[in-house]
Amino acid sequence: MIWSKKTSIYSLAAKPLIFRFPPEGAHKLAETALTIPGVWNAFRLTNGARKPELQTELAGISLPTPVGMAAGFDKDCKVLGSVLRLGFGFVTGGTVTLASRPGNPKPRMVRLPDQKAVMNSLGFPGQGLESALKRLNKAQQYKNRVLVSIAGTIEDEIFECLRRTQPLVAGIELNISSPNTAGLRIFHEPARLRGLIEGLVAEKQVPLFVKLPPWPRDNENREEILKLAETAVDAGVDGLVVANTHPIESSRLQSGRGGLSGAPLFEHTELMIADVQARVQGGASIIACGGVTTAEHVWQLLAKGASAIQLYTSFIYEGPGLPARINKRLAKLMNAAGVSSIADIADSPPVIK
Ligand SMILES: Cc1cc2nc3c(=O)[nH]c(=O)nc-3n(C[C@H](O)[C@H](O)[C@H](O)COP(=O)(O)O)c2cc1C
Repeated sequence: MIWSKKTSIYSLAAKPLIFRFPPEGAHKLAETALTIPGVWNAFRLTNGARKPELQTELAGISLPTPVGMAAGFDKDCKVLGSVLRLGFGFVTGGTVTLASRPGNPKPRMVRLPDQKAVMNSLGFPGQGLESALKRLNKAQQYKNRVLVSIAGTIEDEIFECLRRTQPLVAGIELNISSPNTAGLRIFHEPARLRGLIEGLVAEKQVPLFVKLPPWPRDNENREEILKLAETAVDAGVDGLVVANTHPIESSRLQSGRGGLSGAPLFEHTELMIADVQARVQGGASIIACGGVTTAEHVWQLLAKGASAIQLYTSFIYEGPGLPARINKRLAKLMNAAGVSSIADIADSPPVIK
């Protein structure tokens, strides 16, 4: 391999090693590495997250950069501080459920390296609310930049998760959109979603986001899901996360179906952000999620009206230096375009050459 500025130690050494492990094993390894105290402190100085032009607001939450880690990476809220030190402006822990869950049968996570994508059918394996609360309590120094994703198959479970987690986080992300968990679809019925959200809004003390399922371009599902977006905003949510993984069928997953994430999603994420903006007309903040890999991607989504972005799968392929690279490049793009704040990207040309 020829060394270039873009060649990272991760792609030279760590990735070939980590990719020898099956995906869930590799994830455990990465998680263990992120728990080693001190190691990730070095990133704090070079992660690009201190550039004043990157500071922004998401539904009233102040962030050093609009680039966040999506739900699913730190399901049990074990490594929130280390994730932030890498240069993420915020991190979403979870999805946390009231009781611990084993998740679906394995294999339930498959890499598609040629496409820089992943298929998963994990189904919320996790240690449950009590254990997440203990960890969130220990991570209070990061509270202002931590969201927690919660889910449940009945309203009471979700209320309990909201009540107990909200004193410990900056915002709550309600997940009604995992394609891998039987029971979440009940909240795709607008009247049921409205009832749930109105109840949560009455109790919430921090911004509440709803994570939507993706919608296909020319299909009746599109109207159905945009209706959910509208219902959620009308019922009082502060923001929408657009979107979760894309449903996919594959015999490589034990359950035969799951969700696709990573690079193939990006183009569609852009279309969905434009769609949802047109529908909710600035009535809620939008977090764009799906296939984001570069600062140019971030720019394009902010230009379409997103307030922040989340990523996960590109982190698997590009390694721990990715948020720092995106932060630095985004600041460069802003300087080159004469844009002095993240909010001003919304009025800038959508594609940068
Ligand atoms: C292995 C894996 C586990 C995930 N777990 C969750 C989860 O628990 N809750 C959730 O809301 N989204 C979960 N997601 C979806 C991501 O948060 C994100 O919406 C999706 O992967 C698209 O973004 P990406 O292309 O940047 O990965 C998961 C994704 C992956 C790849």
